Amino acid sequence: MSIEAATVQDTYEKMLTKLERLVPAAELRIKAELVYEINRLKKERGALILGHNYMEPALFHTVPDMVGDSLGLSREAANTDKDIIIFCGVRFMAETAKILNPGKTVLLPAKEAGCSLAASITVDDVLKLKEAFPGAPVVTYINTYADVKAVTDICCTSSNAQKVIESLDDEVILFLPDQFLARNVANECGLPITIASRNTDGDINVDKNFTKGLVGWAGTCEVHEQFTVSDIDNVRRQFPDVTVLTHPESPPEVVAASDYSNSTTKMVSYVQESPLKGPFLILTECSMGDNIIAENPDKEILRLCSVRCPHMNQITLEDTLRALTHNEQLIEVPEETRVKALSSVERMLEIS
Ligand code: 13P
Ligand code: SF4
Repeated sequence: MSIEAATVQDTYEKMLTKLERLVPAAELRIKAELVYEINRLKKERGALILGHNYMEPALFHTVPDMVGDSLGLSREAANTDKDIIIFCGVRFMAETAKILNPGKTVLLPAKEAGCSLAASITVDDVLKLKEAFPGAPVVTYINTYADVKAVTDICCTSSNAQKVIESLDDEVILFLPDQFLARNVANECGLPITIASRNTDGDINVDKNFTKGLVGWAGTCEVHEQFTVSDIDNVRRQFPDVTVLTHPESPPEVVAASDYSNSTTKMVSYVQESPLKGPFLILTECSMGDNIIAENPDKEILRLCSVRCPHMNQITLEDTLRALTHNEQLIEVPEETRVKALSSVERMLEIS
């Protein structure tokens, strides 16, 4: 057996040990070749691979140098000394890495890996809201594109949103664009909330007499908006001792019906650190449930796999290899936009 064949075999055996309950062996054998080649090329090119918690298990457990949530991966992107960053996640995440690293090559393996939240709001919407509430600070979720970050005072992620809001002492704060995250944060901070939206003429509908609390935006995550209280009730009927974990992009009544709600990494840590064996219902993108199963073979994990993120799911090992081989898809952010967006991202990183 050649050295290469032996290393592919070794890669396959490691993948099998970790993933045999989740991925058929025949598929792992094919994927092991891709993993071997990605890791070889990554070393040769001096690249860093970042992987979001929603990546499929055969990718998540094999090629990233670092895995995590939006905040953790932004921190990693800010600190790397590698010249090439491959972001196995969605476009706004890769853009954030580019905002922090203008001189580096940042690659996103799939061109169409977007996000319904990032697509829900434009610069024009933000400027109109600023006009309606002069002087109010703009906090935007990291799930926005660079041009929107450029008209933002400070970014936040699901793990630090409350901290960011509590760092501001203004009476009215624009908190965009996820209406459910905004409602959940308003509940945590004990603040009133109103939700603005764009009408068919492109104008903004908002209560201009609102004088205290959060002004949210009518954006939603196309995945988390679909979970319902009856999903939770059904699972509790079948598994009365289940612990339910949700993401704060879910509707407030779903968060209220669950036992814990936080960022993806905090959900992972919650299961890992819990003295309970389960069952745990992971009410978010199904792949993350798979990844928790692989890391915690002694725990019972439940997930609802009928609701998937079509954007995160576009990132495959094949695309990652292509990105690394051909420098595809190159992420660029115009310098003027980048400089303005950088201050909102840096302000968030300082607070967290
Ligand atoms: P996290 O920052 O919690 O990983 O969330 C990112 C995301 O897109 C969740 O849908
Ligand atoms: Fe965007 Fe929702 Fe997909 Fe996360 S899960 S990337 S918020 S569409």
